[in-house]
Parts: sequence; C-alpha cells; structure tokens
Amino acid sequence: MATLSTAPAASADQVVLVTGGAGGLGGAITSRFAKDGCTVVVADFDGEAAEVVASGLRERGARARSAGVDVTVRADVEEAVEDIMRNEGRIDVAVCLAGVVRNGYVSKIRDEDFRATIATHAEGTLNVMRAVLPHMRKRGYGRLVNMSSVAVRGSLGGASYGAAKGAIEGLTRSAALEVAQQGITANCVAPGLVDAGMFLTVPDDFQKSFADRIPMGRVATPEEIAAVVAFFASPEASYVTGQTLYVCGGSSLGF
Ligand SMILES: NC(=O)c1ccc[n+]([C@@H]2O[C@H](COP(=O)([O-])OP(=O)(O)OC[C@H]3O[C@@H](n4cnc5c(N)ncnc54)[C@H](O)[C@@H]3O)[C@@H](O)[C@H]2O)c1
Repeated sequence: MATLSTAPAASADQVVLVTGGAGGLGGAITSRFAKDGCTVVVADFDGEAAEVVASGLRERGARARSAGVDVTVRADVEEAVEDIMRNEGRIDVAVCLAGVVRNGYVSKIRDEDFRATIATHAEGTLNVMRAVLPHMRKRGYGRLVNMSSVAVRGSLGGASYGAAKGAIEGLTRSAALEVAQQGITANCVAPGLVDAGMFLTVPDDFQKSFADRIPMGRVATPEEIAAVVAFFASPEASYVTGQTLYVCGGSSLGF
C-alpha cells in the first residue's frame, strides 16, 4: 500500500543534493535549483571546487553548501547524507552527476579504466541512492535523478562509459520499482553532447565533427539539460518513474 507523502508544496521548498556538482553540468544544474529557490548541497570529489560553486550560489542569495565526497566510497556518501540530515532535516532530491571518462575499445580497454568508470558512475549512483532512500522512505517523498547519456546506445571506443551508463539506467529502473508505492520516483536524463564539462575536453576538431552530426546542428547548452533535471526533480513529476529522457537534439533517432 502506498505511504502517505509529505511532498513539498513546490520545487522551491526542496533540499537538493547534487553529486559531481562542481563539474560543467553541475554548475548549470545547481544554479537552476538555486534560482528555483531550493537549498542546494554541492557534493564533489573536489571539495574546494564544490565550495567555490556553493559560495557563488550563496552570493546570489541562495541557501547552499558544499561537501567533499568520493561517491565510490560508500561510507563517505553516507557521512555526507547524515550531515545533510543533521543540518537540513531532509533530502528531497538526489541528482547523481559524478563521473569520469576513462574509455577505450572493447578489445583494448585496460582493467583499471573499466573498473574506475563503473565504480564512479554506477557504484557511485548506487551508493547515493542507498544512502538517501531510507530517509526519503520515512517521509514518503523523494526524487532520484540520475545521469545517463546517448552513449548508452554504444559508441566507438566507448566501452566503459556506455557500460557504466547502461548500469545506471538499470539501477534507476530497479529503484523505481522498489519505491513506486512510497512517493519516490527515479528517472534518468540522457544528454547527447553538451557545451560543458566532459565534452569540452575533446579536441576542437572532434567537437565540430560530432556537432555536425546532430540533427539540430548544435550541442546542448547546460541549461537545457538542467531544465529537464528540474522537471524530474519537481513535485509535479509525481507520476513519472523509471524513465530515461533523451535530451540530445535528435541524436538518439534513426536517420
Ligand atoms: N558534458 C557532456 O557532454 C555530457 C553528455 C552526456 C552525459 N554527461 C554526464 O553528465 C555528468 C556530468 O558531466 P560533466 O560534463 O559536468 O563532467 P565534469 O567532468 O565537468 O564533471 C564531473 C564531476 O564529477 C566529479 N567526480 C568525479 N569522480 C568523482 C567521485 N568519485 N566522487 C565525487 N565526484 C566525482 C568531478 O570532480 C567533476 O566535478 C556525468 O555523469 C556525465 O557522464 C555529460
């Protein structure tokens, strides 16, 4: 039987944890939540960079703080979640962005690169979900938003990244089923190429040749991804769960 929900009245009332929040997409996503009036916890492996983001949000009048967290270490994640619970009393939304790119061809990828990629994306997302879910369950409310990618469909030389994103989508659907009657939803956003973060580490000529193949003829702005994350995170998205929304300018389509 479904539990009684203590859903916030609006997006503005939410306490939001964003892992990988100091990265390129993290900047736009944390800004969006801050602009919407949420309390934002910017968590990242790079604690100093997370504090720079959080202090920038505070300067703009938002309630924000930072946490240095390695998502691959379960105890680290649990400690950060307990700290938020002590200080804020609840976590309404957990957004998992933390990620690395250590890719390679299936025939050549090094064990350490494959394992590090799976550990950061997939185990990291699992660690966050299993740390926040008991608290969300108690209140009968929560929003889990995880980050996939169009690369889940396969990409040449993208063995570890695509596998990690596939794991995230599977975990998210299983979580959605597990908590479907408890006021908690779990969804994935799957961007194509975004003018931020990881994509900007690709050499310029590759960036251009990738962008030329996108049906819309351009990469996404990070704000366009943040808008979809904000939708899944909102109380209004109450009947949407276990879904992946491609935000890719048409690049997941056939031709
Ligand atoms: N930029 C794109 O084009 C694009 C496209 C599709 C999906 N994505 C996904 O969006 C998410 C964010 O990507 P981005 O472009 O902002 O990348 P980014 O490299 O700018 O940010 C990733 C952040 O994760 C942090 N991080 C790495 N390992 C960590 C760990 N073990 N614990 C905690 N934090 C850790 C990094 O410090 C960094 O701040 C990733 O999951 C990525 O796969 C990005």
